[in-house]
Amino acid sequence: MERLKDRVIIITGAAMGLGYASALEAAKNGALLTLVDYNAELLEKAKATILEQYPQTKIITAVADVSSEAAVKQYVDDTVNEYGRIDGFYNNAGIEGRQAPLVEYDLDVFKKVVDINLMGVYYGLKYIIPVMQKQEYGRIVNVASVGGIRGVMNQTAYVATKHAVSGITKNAALEYGRYGIQTNAIAPGAILTPMVAEAFKQVNPTDPKQAETVYAQANPTKRLGLPEEVGKLVTFLLSEDCSYVNGQIIAIDGGQSNSYGNV
Ligand SMILES: NC(=O)c1ccc[n+]([C@@H]2O[C@H](COP(=O)([O-])OP(=O)(O)OC[C@H]3O[C@@H](n4cnc5c(N)ncnc54)[C@H](O)[C@@H]3O)[C@@H](O)[C@H]2O)c1
Repeated sequence: MERLKDRVIIITGAAMGLGYASALEAAKNGALLTLVDYNAELLEKAKATILEQYPQTKIITAVADVSSEAAVKQYVDDTVNEYGRIDGFYNNAGIEGRQAPLVEYDLDVFKKVVDINLMGVYYGLKYIIPVMQKQEYGRIVNVASVGGIRGVMNQTAYVATKHAVSGITKNAALEYGRYGIQTNAIAPGAILTPMVAEAFKQVNPTDPKQAETVYAQANPTKRLGLPEEVGKLVTFLLSEDCSYVNGQIIAIDGGQSNSYGNV
């Protein structure tokens, strides 16, 4: 079943990780895509690998930094000019920033995390919601994190911005639900993207799999999540089937965020 058949979907941060996995799943489900990323080279590679697997897919790309309001307006205008509408928005681009205790956190990095994770998410909504309002249809999936519902040691800027994403999601859902727009957020736990795999290499260069196994012990499922598992959840939330789930922050973390202590 093609859940997104001929639906116009914008995905930010689409060049790798969760954005790429969701783009692949959306292509599999028949979507018409606008893929946005600030890494031009990786974005073209992502487009090419999606087309290798799903050659019929219509894809436009936009090289844009989501922390620039003008760049966001441009990718929205380009999408409307190309396809005439926007059915779904996966508002995914984000960065972790640096790990440091709150009082030692580098202020420039803090502001950069706010610009991308909070303002970038807001700009996307500001320009896409009016298009969806006119259509009286839209599906929005913001990307929070377990750090958007819980604290995470040494990640104040990330946690602050991801809680903000949870808040924006609830407000957008309240204000625009009446226009047929469902707005939700996902809150991924540790998902094995290339970025996370690289972190395990740093922890244990000779045996990164061992570092991953140790880390996974704290999870009820005893494993990390996979990008394609996130892609499937996102596809549902972007589809017509998601017709009465609105304003929810949906954890996809194997149940780990419910635990208090060891499992
Ligand atoms: N991987 C995880 O375990 C995990 C867990 C919780 C939340 N998340 C969230 O999921 C989202 C994607 O994470 P990921 O793991 O796929 O990261 P990633 O680093 O693998 O990929 C992020 C993509 O976004 C792009 N990007 C970053 N900043 C951008 C900007 N300003 N403008 C345009 N593009 C930009 C990057 O070039 C990259 O292609 C982020 O919001 C992240 O906070 C990830």
